[in-house]
Amino acid sequence: MDAVDTEKLWAQLIRAVETCQKCDLYKTRTHVVPGEGNRNADLMFIGEGPGRDEDLTGRPFVGKAGQLLNKMIAAIGLKREEVYIANIVKCRPPGNRVPRESEAESCLPYLRRQVYLVRPRIIVCLGATAMRYVIDRKASITSIRGQWFERKGYWLMATYHPAALLRDSDKKYDAWEDFKKIRDKLHELGLKP
Ligand code: URA
Repeated sequence: MDAVDTEKLWAQLIRAVETCQKCDLYKTRTHVVPGEGNRNADLMFIGEGPGRDEDLTGRPFVGKAGQLLNKMIAAIGLKREEVYIANIVKCRPPGNRVPRESEAESCLPYLRRQVYLVRPRIIVCLGATAMRYVIDRKASITSIRGQWFERKGYWLMATYHPAALLRDSDKKYDAWEDFKKIRDKLHELGLKP
């Protein structure tokens, strides 16, 4: 696929997300939040869905949880602009409730397309919702966080959602252990940092 084709596919994808009415979340959104970052990233983060700040700006992880995520990315020697950041659902669930299964299922084809276009080497799921739809429908985040799964050439890991770390700082130690594993995996694969 050459660069022009890839550009076209991205443009189609963003247009489809921006005009999406596949579930009811479009009715209450201010902006869709398709995702952002390096479209050739080796590392991709997947969150749950936009919160208030993201809905207002159209950008993922820009609120308090996002600021913590930025610090964690920096702590492993990367800049936010070097990674790609997306969510399971692209529109804010009212009151920041967990997306319904039907909403997640409607939205997942967009995420699959993003993964296909970015082709990251490593995908990190932030929190239980991302873990559930990307890694394992039945697992619990506490039992599988920090473990690597290799699937279809992608290295997958789940860790705590940064919002969970803000609620319970006892989880920060484990999250940092997970991030060190991400740093080591990038190293092992011959990638930065
Ligand atoms: N929480 C998420 O899961 N995603 C965002 O984009 C922001 C907060």
